[in-house]
Amino acid sequence: MIEVNIIKSGETQTLEVPNDMGLNLMELLKGEEYESIEGTCGGMALCATCHIKIASAKPCLAEASNDELDMLETLPVIY
Ligand code: FES
Repeated sequence: MIEVNIIKSGETQTLEVPNDMGLNLMELLKGEEYESIEGTCGGMALCATCHIKIASAKPCLAEASNDELDMLETLPVIY
């Protein structure tokens, strides 16, 4: 199982999901009805409307690549 803690508006919701669920994080959040996750390109890494801030991860995730950072700069608001 994977534990995902979602912090939104100061409240934390914990989701426990199987590690073989076959969904990426965007699909999981959309399935949990986080309407702020637009995901307009369906997860094809073209629009960045599914971007989120990851406060911590175990094991640690790699730093964002230059391509990822460039895409985030195209958004009207960067967190
Ligand atoms: S839905 Fe994630 S990049 Fe478009």
